[in-house]
Amino acid sequence: MMLLLAYATILIACAIAISIVYGSWRCGISPMPSSSLAKCAMLDLLPELQEGTIYELGAGWGSLAFPLADRYPQCQVIAYELSALPYLFCIVRQIAHPRANLTICRKDFRQSNLSGACAIVCYLYPAAMEQLEGQISLQLVKSCWIVSNTFALQHRHPVKTATIADLYNSTIYLYHYVP
Ligand SMILES: C[S@@+](CC[C@H](N)C(=O)[O-])C[C@H]1O[C@@H](n2cnc3c(N)ncnc32)[C@H](O)[C@@H]1O
Repeated sequence: MMLLLAYATILIACAIAISIVYGSWRCGISPMPSSSLAKCAMLDLLPELQEGTIYELGAGWGSLAFPLADRYPQCQVIAYELSALPYLFCIVRQIAHPRANLTICRKDFRQSNLSGACAIVCYLYPAAMEQLEGQISLQLVKSCWIVSNTFALQHRHPVKTATIADLYNSTIYLYHYVP
């Protein structure tokens, strides 16, 4: 019986590891969460927003999506996550502690329309930032705040940056897009 339990545990651990590795390969980045210092800096840099839609592009385990929903109760937060396990984790979190203004979607943000965004939040990687830059220019129709952990938009100037004393000395970039 104990042996069976040990085998089952190893099998589940392997399935979880394979799912995370496959998801990271597919998405181009692992679901590593923003550090708590980075998360605080991102939330601090964003201004007060009274209404509108906030997109989180690549929600991971929900470490930013849930605090965003709490900080902006008048806004709708839409969190996209492509990788299966982090997405399921977010769904379980949402069932356990629901936020009425948070929607979690298993979707590639590159296939989404961000036109109604009042803010975009992300911690991605250089190629995804390039893709986002294209989407911003093509889709955004009203002014929008963009806050990114570590990776900058190559063709835009941030209105503010913050370098934080986490393990990676991460830089947080804040942009204000005005059409
Ligand atoms: C580094 S994690 C950041 C997680 C969270 N945003 C945070 O800061 O704590 C990046 C996440 O983006 C997801 N991701 C990458 N490309 C994506 C895409 N095109 N569409 C949806 N999710 C994506 C990955 O699966 C991963 O979970």
